[in-house]
Amino acid sequence: MFKIFSSPEDIAKKVSELLYSTIKQKPSAALGLATGSTMEPVYAYFVKQVQETGLDLSQVTTFNLDEYIGLPFGHPQSYWAFMQQHLFEPLNIAQAQTHLPCGNAKVLTDECEQYTQKIQALGGLDIQLLGIGSNGHIGFNEPGTPFDRCTHVVDLTEETRLDNSRFFNDLSEMPTQAVTMGIAEIMSAKEVVLVATGLHKSKTMRHLYESEPDPNMPASILKTHPNVKIWLDTEAAALLPKI
Ligand code: F6R
Repeated sequence: MFKIFSSPEDIAKKVSELLYSTIKQKPSAALGLATGSTMEPVYAYFVKQVQETGLDLSQVTTFNLDEYIGLPFGHPQSYWAFMQQHLFEPLNIAQAQTHLPCGNAKVLTDECEQYTQKIQALGGLDIQLLGIGSNGHIGFNEPGTPFDRCTHVVDLTEETRLDNSRFFNDLSEMPTQAVTMGIAEIMSAKEVVLVATGLHKSKTMRHLYESEPDPNMPASILKTHPNVKIWLDTEAAALLPKI
């Protein structure tokens, strides 16, 4: 389950190969995607691999984990914009194939329900990529979130707001809420890959390594998933015992 790689680039290559083989095997695969710094090298490598091999993505469907509430559509720090920049535009993936929760929906509870239904209608996700927040969140499922929750509106913790304010001019611009896929949908994916890189993730990864399934460490539920990979670079694994 836990595997250590020598660099973020090595992990990016491995995750990219996993996405490639998932799509080769099932061209209509439903991919659960994450945003954030951890995913940047992953998507850069995948874009290169698809461009070099000509992998056909025309039948793929994508579902992102989350989106901020309150940012105008297309805001440069929205997760929609992140995905256009890092994956969808470089690979010419049509908008109709991609899904992100809408943080500007008039009735957010309806938006959440519909997002869950769309994922269920496809029989769940074939593979879910995850990063991890310093407080152990996956998607924006913050500590304390029940493991059986589907897509929902979340109040972001101060820790998450501080962590992610690095992308904004200052903390006041950082949204206070988001829509996130729930742990129920993440856990129903056929395969889950959580990636953690960098020394700043080492305490979190130790906590995750030692934790029993506990809603206060949201990622800990992944230990009960039948097909999960938790891939770390040597820096994120710095506080783990030798594995
Ligand atoms: C992003 C997401 C978050 C991030 C996590 C780590 O879509 O769901 O859980 O994966 O906050 O972010 P980075 O990779 O920026 O450290």
